[in-house]
Order: sequence, then structure tokens, then C-alpha cells
Amino acid sequence: MELQELLNKESFTKEELIYLLNLKNEDQINLLFKKADEVRQKYCGNEVHLRGIIEISNYCEQNCIYCGLRLDNHYLKRYRMTPEEIVKTAKSITNEGIFTIVLQSGEDSFFDTEIISYIIYQIKQNVDVAITLSLGERNFDDYKTWKIAGADRYLLKHETANPRLYEAYHFKQKLAERLEHLEYLKSIGYQVGSGNLIGLPMQTVDDIADDILLCSKFDLDMAAFGPFIPSPHTPYHNKQSGDVLLTLKTIAVARLVLKNVHIPSTTALATLDKNGRKKGLMVGANVVMPDFTPIPYRENYLIYPEKAGLKDDPIVAKANLENLLNSIGRNISYKRGDSLKQKVIPS
Ligand code: 5AD
Ligand code: SF4
Repeated sequence: MELQELLNKESFTKEELIYLLNLKNEDQINLLFKKADEVRQKYCGNEVHLRGIIEISNYCEQNCIYCGLRLDNHYLKRYRMTPEEIVKTAKSITNEGIFTIVLQSGEDSFFDTEIISYIIYQIKQNVDVAITLSLGERNFDDYKTWKIAGADRYLLKHETANPRLYEAYHFKQKLAERLEHLEYLKSIGYQVGSGNLIGLPMQTVDDIADDILLCSKFDLDMAAFGPFIPSPHTPYHNKQSGDVLLTLKTIAVARLVLKNVHIPSTTALATLDKNGRKKGLMVGANVVMPDFTPIPYRENYLIYPEKAGLKDDPIVAKANLENLLNSIGRNISYKRGDSLKQKVIPS
């Protein structure tokens, strides 16, 4: 089959995904990118959705082998924002016309049922803003309470769809459990995001194809594909970073497969390549997640080092992003940017 004919297909076999992810010829890769951009235009339009992130705590009770926030990293200075600081930061995000707030942290049980509910309630008091929680694997009852308190979305990356690799990276955690959490979150009406890490040790292109297929099977609302970046004081500190081109190909192939799903151009991609943000947006991505964590805390949210934009004022960063988007014929959305899928939400 001709490449163009393959790219025009509506659905793909795993072998076809592997073939596309393995493309090496520059002209062929450009055809893939062009098609992914067309599919993004068809299903998502020109708008780029912004999600203002607040990294509320860098404490984590897990020990993911690749992550700088892991429990055993005793070099990291830990912090928790107060509920008042979080609500104030949320207000600064909506003041910028950004109507999705992502509350992100390690798995930190200090932020319990009540505190998170209180924060959601406070943020939602005066403004119609979507709240995404990204707080790791938590109790099913918590997910439910937070949904009732007003949370709209939950972001829980599956990291890898290969159960053996999952166990190698996460010790006591199991992939099956993570998938149960994703299923439960969907069943109670959250818009759900997941995704993988690209370039982790031992991962193959076959695994990445499975990651994309898993996102398709779970009928996700959002899917993130970001490169692994080695982090000091972790067992993987001297491993290689994920490959930028492979990350871009993954975003492009994911767009062809997933179609009406939100896909971010990640900060990790922008960290490895100074034009990474723009490149991601040109090959299928339609979301950017600017960091609004106040500076003294932000410097310690060290999942990986030298994060892009670490010292940037968020308002200046947004203006720069606006220029970047103008240069590629795109524009910022000033709406909540909910799921692109029609949902029947269980009552
Ligand atoms: N490089 C890139 N991304 C990472 N994450 C964790 N560690 C790293 C790393 N070293 C991502 C994971 C996780 C999210 C909090 O950050 O995908 O879901
Ligand atoms: Fe904790 Fe998430 Fe990092 Fe794992 S990836 S150590 S759960 S912050």
C-alpha cells in the first residue's frame, strides 16, 4: 500500500502503527506530519486550549523509577501550597482568560478528601472554570466526592501499556490496577486523560503502538505523549532522554488514530527542543499546559531537570505563546475546552 493511501485510512492495525512510527525517510515523515495536522484541523479546528497548571505539592508516596518526585529522592526540597495560595493562583489563571485549572501533585494523602473538596469548591464559587485533578491513584470514594464537589476531569497517565515494563518501573504498582482506576473515573462521569512516556529504558516502538491503542480502547478525552528526561537522584539518572522525532511521530500517529481527542504539546518536549512546543502543535497537538505555580515552589517541582519555562512569568509566557500561535495560523481558545466527544454522563 502507498503511504498516502495508508495515511488516509480511518482505522489502523497495530502493524500499521508500528510501520508509521518507524518511518525514517524525511519526505515520508513529512507526509505523516501533514496528514496529522489535517486531521487535527478537521476534528479540533484552529483553537489551542490552555490548561493552567498549579503544582500544589511535590510530596509523593510512590517510587516511580524515572521520576524526580519519587519517595526515595531525599535530595528534593518538599513543599505544599496552602489552600489559600492555591485558590489565589487559580484566580490569577482565570484572570488571564484561561478556563481550565489543573491541580497537580505527587500522590500526597495530606491533600485528603476534605481539603481537595474545599479547594475545588472555593475555585468554582464565582467563575465557570473546568477543574482537572492530577493527583495520582487515589481512593475510589475520593474520586466520587471530588466529582460531586465540582471536579470535571482527571488526568492519570498509564505511562506504559506493557504490564512487564509497568512493574519494572513501578515496583509494587500494577498496570491492571491503574486501568481499573481509569475505568472507574470514566464510569462516574469524569473527562479522562491518560498517556505514556516515550523513550523509557527497554521500551520498544511496539510498546508505543500499544500505548496509542490503549488510549483508543479507553475512549479517552485527552491523551499525552511526552518524552522521558533523566532526572538526578533517581535510578535512571544516567539513561538517555526520549527521542524528539519519535515523540513527534507518536503525537502524529496518535492524532490519526484518536481523532477527536485533546493532545497536548508537552513541556517535556519543549525542554528537549527549544522549538518543541511549536513542533508538537504542528503535527497534531491542540493543547498547551502553561505552569502557573508560584516561583518559589515551581523550582522544586522537579519531575525532571531544566524544565522549559521554569523561570518565566506566566503572563509573559502566555503573550509569547500567543505570538508563536499567530506565526502558525492558530489562536488561543478562551473557553473551557471540554471534551470533543459527545458524552452521556451517568446521573
Ligand atoms: N521525564 C518526563 N516525564 C516524567 N514524568 C515523571 N517522570 C518523568 C521524567 N523523568 C511524568 C509522568 C507522570 C507525570 C507526573 O510526569 O508521565 O505521569
Ligand atoms: Fe509520584 Fe507521579 Fe512521580 Fe510516580 S510519576 S513518583 S506517582 S509524582
